[in-house]
Amino acid sequence: MGLRAPHYSYILKHKPPVPWFEAITENFTGIEGGAGGKPIRVLEKIRELYPVALHGVSLSIGSSDPLDKDYLKKIRSLAARIEPQWMSDHLCWTSVEGKHLHDLLPLPFTEKVIQYLVSRILYVQDFLGRKILFENVSSYMTFSNSEMTEWEFLSELSKRADCGILLDINNIYVNSVNHGFDPISYINGVPRDRIGQFHLAGHSNQGRYLLDTHDHPITAPVWNLYEKALRCFGPIPTLIERDENIPAFPELMKEVHKANSIAEKVHGKKRISTSITDRTPTVVAVDHH
Ligand SMILES: [Fe+2]
Repeated sequence: MGLRAPHYSYILKHKPPVPWFEAITENFTGIEGGAGGKPIRVLEKIRELYPVALHGVSLSIGSSDPLDKDYLKKIRSLAARIEPQWMSDHLCWTSVEGKHLHDLLPLPFTEKVIQYLVSRILYVQDFLGRKILFENVSSYMTFSNSEMTEWEFLSELSKRADCGILLDINNIYVNSVNHGFDPISYINGVPRDRIGQFHLAGHSNQGRYLLDTHDHPITAPVWNLYEKALRCFGPIPTLIERDENIPAFPELMKEVHKANSIAEKVHGKKRISTSITDRTPTVVAVDHH
């Protein structure tokens, strides 16, 4: 489950049986309004009880700005302190000329952009001393200069940059509706050995398009696509994301249980571990040096 502030005290008091948490990196680095002090002590307490993955929102790997070394130093020292199972960010741009836009903006799918991203991802992974998972984002328009599909772009990029993929199943579905492609082609089109994590979230239907709002329960078509993704990629660690209308912890646990029951249906009980340590090989597979 995504670690969210309204649940901190519940988690520390009740120690619910969640296999692992994903924390938003910037909430614990003093970046983007995160206080750094009290929150990091909370995260350290939670880390004593659970494995934690760190999920960034402002690396801005696709920006025309130079990479932000201060930011990289901050997340490197956070990682040294928290020892996350893995770290991830988004395949997008979020800033330009030093201004953060607080949105995950899409990139054109071109060879030139791949080359640009490959050099930046290699630098970041070298700087942090670890592989990073990059997540596919939702989008509401396409670039007329794109030369390939989103899944071809993601495949080619992940191979050449030697990075992992955090596959957001909801974003695939949202984009498939918004841009009129078959989500199964997407699932079949990305490399199996690069997928380290899934995201599941709710979206809202705006009539002419779907908006990736993370404020609703996961919808039926996304659950269906999740099942297909599990069949294709194996028992991948899966995260429920909720960022708005955050319900009480036990309510959100219902979605965790639903995800687990689908995974058990596909892969059987034995293969669904409650410990992420047992699942680490999924990510190790990404690290094929
Ligand atoms: Fe996501």
